[in-house]
Amino acid sequence: MSVRSALSTVAATPVAVRVRRRLLFGGTARYWENRYSRGGNSGAGSYGAQARWKADLVNRWVRIHGVESVIDLGCGDGSQLSFADYPSYLGLDVSPAAVRACVDRFRDDPGKSFLCYDPAAFDDSAGWLRADLALSLEVVFHLVEDEIFEGYMHRLFDSARRFVVIGSYDTETPAPAPHERHRCFTGWVARNRPEWVVEDRADPPAGVDLGSTFVLFRRSAQDPVSSPSTSR
Ligand SMILES: C[S@@+](CC[C@H](N)C(=O)[O-])C[C@H]1O[C@@H](n2cnc3c(N)ncnc32)[C@H](O)[C@@H]1O
Repeated sequence: MSVRSALSTVAATPVAVRVRRRLLFGGTARYWENRYSRGGNSGAGSYGAQARWKADLVNRWVRIHGVESVIDLGCGDGSQLSFADYPSYLGLDVSPAAVRACVDRFRDDPGKSFLCYDPAAFDDSAGWLRADLALSLEVVFHLVEDEIFEGYMHRLFDSARRFVVIGSYDTETPAPAPHERHRCFTGWVARNRPEWVVEDRADPPAGVDLGSTFVLFRRSAQDPVSSPSTSR
């Protein structure tokens, strides 16, 4: 076998293909901005039956727990949001194109605000950006870089007064694409934010093509931060 054919055999192995795709992947924020600005969308999970099932679940949690405000970290293009029923809403996303799409789409809705989020140029020590419930729908398994994941998870819990909802893969299984990384987020919460406890959880039923698990976390009674005036 010639050196050239040996190299092309090695380059075609699944491991080599995965490494090449990972090296070509330019980072989570750049991936999403490129995707949206080229006309792409938030993905299959934000449309059709999947989006309806996600919305029914979160709308129910919002209703039964009397949630008055929602902050959504990774709001996407607004498709999922179009099924939501929240009294007051703030959506943030790292992609300016996605935020612009939401601003256009919900221009006439006085209950919805949007902000572009740059994790490298952000600090909210004074606790301005907080809501009853902080929401993360199918964002966590897209956070490939460890420091981005860590920063995102702390920001999410720091944004919540009473509840956090995370919908993501909750396993360490290998991800099928370079823009995905599956992590056990319930384990992260137990280790890093033990003041938050699991209040409820739901898995999509057969026929709803979603791999994510949806968990509602509640701030435990031992950590009663319940209004902005008591923000840390
Ligand atoms: C699969 S989409 C889900 C959008 C929306 N939550 C939904 O369910 O339709 C993932 C979104 O996360 C956003 N995102 C990626 N990294 C982020 C980060 N560090 N902080 C906030 N949003 C981020 C992406 O721009 C993208 O809009």
